[in-house]
Amino acid sequence: MEKEKKTGRYIRVYEQLEGLLTKTPDIIARMATVCALLHAKIDYFFWCGFYRIIDGQLTVGPYQGPLACQILTKDKGVCWAAVNQNKTLIVPDVHKFPGHIACDSRSNSEIVLPLRNRDGQIIAVFDVDSTEFNAFDEIDAFYLEKIVLLIQND
Ligand code: SME
Repeated sequence: MEKEKKTGRYIRVYEQLEGLLTKTPDIIARMATVCALLHAKIDYFFWCGFYRIIDGQLTVGPYQGPLACQILTKDKGVCWAAVNQNKTLIVPDVHKFPGHIACDSRSNSEIVLPLRNRDGQIIAVFDVDSTEFNAFDEIDAFYLEKIVLLIQND
């Protein structure tokens, strides 16, 4: 998608979420709302969702798209790499990422962002997959980081 079009789309989605995420502080309700809106509005989002760290395991949370893995093997794949490196990861070609976990063989690129609590500890990741190669760039990282911050607002 062209950069200007992508930026415009994200600005509108962000503004909509600012309004929607005031109804309840419940984190699951907010995660579900974020996934549903992004999946509906951004056409290259094939799958998007959250994996929460529960008892040390990345465990699937709210998502939209095809059926996903429920538990991600520790320290393997892109989601665990984002946790272990404590940063957003953009993967232009998942087939070249060592240890990538393919929940659906149609995914070709991916972005994963850590979600932190108020103490700065990572409590979950937000993962987006696309069937396109190289679908995600710094614009996606910038706006998705802003969006996941809305989840822990009061
Ligand atoms: N590809 C991810 C696993 C989650 S699915 O993409 C939904 C990974 O390598 O961690």
